[in-house]
Amino acid sequence: MKAVVLVGGEGTRLRPLTYTTPKPLLPIANVEFLERQLAWLARHGVDEAVLSLGYMPEAFTRHFHDERFGDMKLRFVVEHEPLGTAGGIRFAAEGINERMLVCNGDVLTDLDLSAFVRFHDECGAEATISLAQVEDPSAFGVVPTRTDGEVIAFVEKPPREQVPTNWINAGTYVLEPSVLDGIPARLNVSIERETFPRMLERPGRLYAMQSDAYWLDIGTPQKYFEAHVDVCSGRLGRPPVAGASEWSSGVWVQPGATIAPDAELVAPVLIGERANVGSGARIEASVLGADVEVGAGASLARSVVLDAVSVAPGASIADLVVAPDAALPCGPREG
Ligand code: GDD
Ligand code: MG
Repeated sequence: MKAVVLVGGEGTRLRPLTYTTPKPLLPIANVEFLERQLAWLARHGVDEAVLSLGYMPEAFTRHFHDERFGDMKLRFVVEHEPLGTAGGIRFAAEGINERMLVCNGDVLTDLDLSAFVRFHDECGAEATISLAQVEDPSAFGVVPTRTDGEVIAFVEKPPREQVPTNWINAGTYVLEPSVLDGIPARLNVSIERETFPRMLERPGRLYAMQSDAYWLDIGTPQKYFEAHVDVCSGRLGRPPVAGASEWSSGVWVQPGATIAPDAELVAPVLIGERANVGSGARIEASVLGADVEVGAGASLARSVVLDAVSVAPGASIADLVVAPDAALPCGPREG
């Protein structure tokens, strides 16, 4: 089966990190987010993925320079100006004349895609949306359904007091090729604000499947951090990164890392390849990237420290995401 992955957005809510690295290529627990997503698609039989690119396309073509991810074939389609979610799908799916999966490129989930496609088949739908339940739906597409799954309405980001249900668009769709015929070519079109609402004008076309699977949109700094905690806590499988070993319960260490015997590591923690944790350092609920240096007596709490950062001896950081290659001097730093 083929999939289209929407990765054209600018990731504005994760600036300044996304000034240099597009959101899907930011690591989650030391593995690029998009690699985690492609691995999930591959586990459910997707053998070809089209990446719908707009922002910083060369970062993707460089990262996947052989146009493959394991056994999966990759295709890159670049928009020269943003075409929106539906316009982007239409443009990327040119030439695909069969049923396809589509996903937002910032959703971390272990949804059972095979069951999702079966549900789509059983409903005889033209498009099926996966739904997740969240406490505050106002930042999402809100999707009330009938008991059989047929969508009643699709309301993108409604005001908090007008939210009809807690079930939201989880950003994974099964689409029949006929859905693409209804999207004008080469125009900026939103699937959430235009395509789905328009499909509701005729009954029987649009269905949605509720699921309790793990689900998180990584698009804000808080959620980006939360994704690290969840992955390191084993909520998406163990180990959180291939090759990591469990140092103590919920504390994972990648090959080549060294940890002083008197360092204190409080789960969930992941120490990246060749990272160094100095004597008396304390690391709590944090992830260190590859080649990170943590000086003696330094303290890190609830932080994500990306590759090759150095943290000075005695420094103290809390609630931060630290960009790659940064040098953190002594003294407290809080996010
Ligand atoms: N190719 C392309 N072109 N991709 C785009 C464009 C575009 O013009 N605009 C956005 N994208 C991609 C983003 O890169 C992201 O992967 C995905 O489309 C969704 O965009 P976001 O900007 O992350 O949207 P959102 O999080 O506010 O809302 C969307 O996701 C929610 C679930 O996380 C909507 O689909 C909501 O309905 C949904 O609930
Ligand atoms: Mg998003």
